Amino acid sequence: MMRRDLLEREYRKPTAANVTLKRLLNYFRPYRRTLSYVVILIIITTLIQLLTPYLIGQAIDCFVAPTAEESSCRLVAQATKPNVTNLTLVSVFLIAINIASAVGNGYLFYLMAYAGQQVLTTLRNQVFDQIHRLSLRFYDQNPAGDIMSRLTNDADQIATAVNFALARVGSQLLVLFGSVAVMFVIHPPLALLSTTVVPLMLITTMLFARWARYAFRQTRQEMGEVNADLQESISGVREAQAFGREVENIERFKERNAANRDANIRAVAITSALQPTLNLLSVIGQAAIIGVGSLWAIRGTAILGYPVTIGVLVAFLVYLQRLYEPVRVVGQLWAQIQAALAGAERMFNLLDIQPDLTDAPNAKELPPIKGEIIFENVHFAYVPDEPVLRGIDLKIEPGQTVAIVGPTGAGKTSIINLIARYYDVTEGRVLIDGYDVREVTQSSLRRQIGVVLQDNFLWSDTIENNIRYGNLEATHEQIIEAAKLARAHEFIERSPDGYQTELGERGVGLSLGQRQLIAIARAALSNPRVLILDEATSNVDTRTERLIQAALDTLMKDRTSVVIAHRLSTIRNADCVFVLKEGQIVERGTHEELLALKGHYYTLYQSQFRREAEASEQPAL
Ligand code: CTP
Ligand code: MG
Repeated sequence: MMRRDLLEREYRKPTAANVTLKRLLNYFRPYRRTLSYVVILIIITTLIQLLTPYLIGQAIDCFVAPTAEESSCRLVAQATKPNVTNLTLVSVFLIAINIASAVGNGYLFYLMAYAGQQVLTTLRNQVFDQIHRLSLRFYDQNPAGDIMSRLTNDADQIATAVNFALARVGSQLLVLFGSVAVMFVIHPPLALLSTTVVPLMLITTMLFARWARYAFRQTRQEMGEVNADLQESISGVREAQAFGREVENIERFKERNAANRDANIRAVAITSALQPTLNLLSVIGQAAIIGVGSLWAIRGTAILGYPVTIGVLVAFLVYLQRLYEPVRVVGQLWAQIQAALAGAERMFNLLDIQPDLTDAPNAKELPPIKGEIIFENVHFAYVPDEPVLRGIDLKIEPGQTVAIVGPTGAGKTSIINLIARYYDVTEGRVLIDGYDVREVTQSSLRRQIGVVLQDNFLWSDTIENNIRYGNLEATHEQIIEAAKLARAHEFIERSPDGYQTELGERGVGLSLGQRQLIAIARAALSNPRVLILDEATSNVDTRTERLIQAALDTLMKDRTSVVIAHRLSTIRNADCVFVLKEGQIVERGTHEELLALKGHYYTLYQSQFRREAEASEQPAL
């Protein structure tokens, strides 16, 4: 529960909409030129849109139903009777500029999509970089699926919005204010009458937007949870099947999926309620114009000196439609923008996490080391106030092999995590050749430390490339040499495509033992001064077991080796054994010395290693 709280705080904090929007818009800076074309196109197409109703009205007043005196016709000086030729001319002109407007619109959205996709690529890359900078601690606390959701679903939401919502909202707002302006120029009294509902519409839209944003934030979050669940289920499908957890997993997924659905329904309900509300307001506005305006037109009275003609009325009705349209469209797109902002917020939150394991500003390159390791009063905790290591003091001489033993959960893996600085100590110091590991660059430190774990990660790549991760500059010959040292050469040669055999995700296609041999080859290739080994407890067949043992013996020669030992042979060969219990070193010495003590190690030996010792004394079958 506690970890969840931590996560909520750092990683899910809501941000003000304008802050997020501003930050998102900042990403468009490099595309200012493209955006300036977008703005020019928006202005041109908007002007055409604004001109069209006016021209329609003028065509009526000048060439269809001209009124002799006090004409509102401004196209020609004297309009007295209908004029089909001129009417046709105006029509053709209208069609022409509207075609131009349509083309301009298309190009505008192309440009916008171009800039938007560039921005999105940048954002995705940044998030991907960040994923590699974040410490193991972060991944201990956050499900991978939720992080993936930020890169995929949330990014998609942003894409939809920037691709066309932003530009449309921009142009529609321009249409809105332009229409109001033109209406006031043509006929102020009528304009006043028809725009009374606009403020109401704007207020309604803003209110809805606020609710929608809240709802969308929830949908993004639920989406993340659904993905986290999905990811976990796919990774753990074997275990789920083995332990008959399918039903529970499916049930849990259904629950999360239902929560996601409900959040989405809420968001959609809010945004779709906006439509009818705005419609109603627009109908009221139009009804007022038709009613009052027609009355004025029939009476033929000029209002405040402005004659109300049929042409003016028609122009107004068209403007009105165009006037309410933007508010409606903006209201609708607003939903998309809200969803995008909620998505952007999640991406930014991830970007804002300060990697807690960074190189110090004055970090030095660790020079080639001899391999001395010192722990000085090291305290460590994964979660505050839950100490895992409590005052560890130890010294390992260059070239020594030491074994760490202890019951499960004692803190063995934690110790080796600190040597390669996968985590930082909470108190004390870890020194390699006298350098505090926090004062040297992580790359120079890890380059000189080889790690072979219980469960080694292999990429979906060729066997050769998986070994090459140990040293990216290695030649094919060097890789073969390392594989031979790791006793892996033989089985690799037997694989379908030899060194070029493609592995499935996480090394699918290889046995556990084979995976370990590859990991040993990888470590051998990097030729580290310090070797860290978490011995496998898994049951591999005796032949593979012997291969692994032989490979490790070769690998450990002439290096400082720290081994979390599960094999008696390793412990016997170790220069020193540290017995760990509840985060403290309770005993240290060689195997014989510790046995003679008849203390913790003795008990451990009795329960864990005696059977192995007896078994090895009997002749193999
Ligand atoms: N722990 C934790 N968060 C982690 C890893 C470990 O809180 N990401 C805690 C565990 O609850 C455990 C303690 O740290 O009690 C020590 O863990 P570890 O060093 O991994 O124990 P090992 O001695 O390596 O145990 P094992 O033999 O089972 O590998
Ligand atoms: Mg462990």
